Amino acid sequence: MYCVKQITGDMLWVGADDRRLAFFEGVYAVPDGVSYNSYLILDEQTVLFDTVDKAAEAQFFENLRYGLGGRPLDYLVISHMEPDHAATVEGLLLRHPETRVVCNDKIRVMLARYFATDFSERLLIVAEGDTLCTGRHNFTFVMAPMVHWPEVMMTYDAADKILFSADAFGSFGALNGRIFADEVDFMHEYIDEARRYYTNIVGKYGPQVQAVLNKAAALDIAYICPLHSFVWRQGFGDFIAKYAQWSSYTPEQSGVMIAYASVYGHTENAANILAAKLSDRGVKVKMHDTSVIPASYIVADAFKYSHLVFAATTYNMGVFVTMENLLHDIAAHALRNRKIALIENGSWAPVAGKLMRQILEPLKDMTFIGAPLLVPSALKQPQLEELEALADALAADVLA
Ligand code: FEO
Repeated sequence: MYCVKQITGDMLWVGADDRRLAFFEGVYAVPDGVSYNSYLILDEQTVLFDTVDKAAEAQFFENLRYGLGGRPLDYLVISHMEPDHAATVEGLLLRHPETRVVCNDKIRVMLARYFATDFSERLLIVAEGDTLCTGRHNFTFVMAPMVHWPEVMMTYDAADKILFSADAFGSFGALNGRIFADEVDFMHEYIDEARRYYTNIVGKYGPQVQAVLNKAAALDIAYICPLHSFVWRQGFGDFIAKYAQWSSYTPEQSGVMIAYASVYGHTENAANILAAKLSDRGVKVKMHDTSVIPASYIVADAFKYSHLVFAATTYNMGVFVTMENLLHDIAAHALRNRKIALIENGSWAPVAGKLMRQILEPLKDMTFIGAPLLVPSALKQPQLEELEALADALAADVLA
């Protein structure tokens, strides 16, 4: 049975929630599910904005059939070819031979790569600033390269002031019956998952996001319709401000995130003592055990906090594996502009500190506070004094 939501007088959400997906993109846990958003406009001509993941195609086709009410589907606008939105394009076009595909030239190339049919005779290729009138609606196409794929395209509808923003302004988390962000306490209940989504999916491409934010600033926007999570129709200034912070790699929170990798608890002991000393000095602290917490959550907090401490034991003459994976993940997401301190452990040939620094050093605008603090096996009095000094240095910087 169909399950649709009314967005405006002539626009329906015809997407679907997915709560069975264990790992989005095969790597990001989504314990609260995810939505694949598809929007149907019933103008003089009908227009569908994007499709859904294969996993949700049965619900999607049911919704679309209901939404069209027997009308033909005149246009499918493809904003992004990642299969969580485009896997169902081929099935849709085979069911609807009347539909023309509105896309840019990069999407044309990808269509031919993903599907057995390239649909070349059905394509309407658009470029930056091109328009499409479907009756009351007048759509303008806005390219958004590398947010977060090269072919990404947003669409602006001048009639109802709608920005179809592709993956931008999306979040992890199923909709659970709601559709508008103002139906929930988004900035308290959903912002952490929105940050985890942004930083892990789009975080590497901050300059490209800034370019799109500048384009969007020139538009009169009443609705933001992303490909995941809620539609925004009011009060989105705070969320756009978060995007401005995240994409410029500006810390949201003055404080220290401590991530540690500990085999027998001694490195964890050092991390806990440092956290206690920082708290005594009035510094906000967030801690993560890299062997327990999936990297996507720690990457999100690394984007959030101003100061980062990484503490790891030496293992196989390298950095302990969960910390090594985390640091490569942070480097792959091109985090910049953070203050960093390192703690290493090693019972006979400690190298973790040097190797952790080698991973992080190439990132832009990173400042290291002191040399790696060495814990040779278990903590002794000299390390307590060094942790005291590290806490002083971090607190002075955080609270400056
Ligand atoms: Fe939600 Fe990049 O696809």
